[in-house]
Amino acid sequence: MNIQLPKVRILATGGTIAGQGNSPLQTMGYKAGQLSIAELLSTIPSIENIATISGEQFANLPSSDLTPTHWLKLAKRINTMFTEENDLDGLVITHGTDTLEESAYFLNLVVKTEKPVVLVGAMRPATALSSDGPMNLVNAIRVAASKHAVGLGVLVVMNDEIYASRDVTKTNANRLDTFGALDFGTVGTIDNGNPEIYYRPTRRHTVHTAFDITLLQELPRVDIVLGYVGADEVLVTALLGAGAKGIILAGTGAGHISPPAERVLREAYQKGTVIVRGSRTGTGRILPQLPHDFIAADNLSPQKARVLLMLALTLTQDPAKIQEMFFTY
Ligand code: SIN
Repeated sequence: MNIQLPKVRILATGGTIAGQGNSPLQTMGYKAGQLSIAELLSTIPSIENIATISGEQFANLPSSDLTPTHWLKLAKRINTMFTEENDLDGLVITHGTDTLEESAYFLNLVVKTEKPVVLVGAMRPATALSSDGPMNLVNAIRVAASKHAVGLGVLVVMNDEIYASRDVTKTNANRLDTFGALDFGTVGTIDNGNPEIYYRPTRRHTVHTAFDITLLQELPRVDIVLGYVGADEVLVTALLGAGAKGIILAGTGAGHISPPAERVLREAYQKGTVIVRGSRTGTGRILPQLPHDFIAADNLSPQKARVLLMLALTLTQDPAKIQEMFFTY
């Protein structure tokens, strides 16, 4: 019997999953983004029995080198691919883990397909003993090929777990189980190579968002300011001078910052710079506190609030409409 295998594309961007160290024990200080996608695939036994796979080298960079320009180019490539190749069942993107959650959430808001798009990385380079890369990659391919992953938005697969891109975050600088979704948990797991989905994300994503990057060449500048003891007005003033159209406040506790920084943020808000109040704690909701308060980040991390605000500013500067987006996406 001739079984039709699912068709999965892999777009490689670099990261530790493609990293090389000097010895099997080197798990820090190695070089990320060294091996090609063809080299990575060649290490996985019987991969041709899982899916019909083709690899494409989009970049080979540590993820801290990626920019919003890469995001736009990547999203456009993905949208073109799904438009031109009807028979493509799913897509895997290999990515450095440092900024994986930001790229995943960006793509979750702008790719126009219901088919599975799965980001995956590794914490140990390809040259390390017990590298997690090959198993993570196979698991990601299995999820991308799964009909059960259709319509869930952009997903992240790491360490046998499947996460919604809105929820997931890197929680540890070194350990294999670094990814988590602290307020929510996983949407599913992969055991014996079989993805099992338990929950569906409810916030709007992919084909259900208002964002269209087709004609965009750049994204508005949005920066993040950290709240801490004794923070003065210098950072905020410098960012405004650099042309920031929006600022995310990664505030202490429920989104607080010291009086001098709060004062310049408030002045900037009154003059039209969009300010979003978030929290540096990593979990919990921030809601509007007073009339005319800054926009509230809900439970988005500061780095994800930045992604959403960059896209929101391509459509409007109206604080009420942007606030609504923070409760929609
Ligand atoms: C990177 O983000 O490119 C380096 C770290 C990693 O992939 O784990």
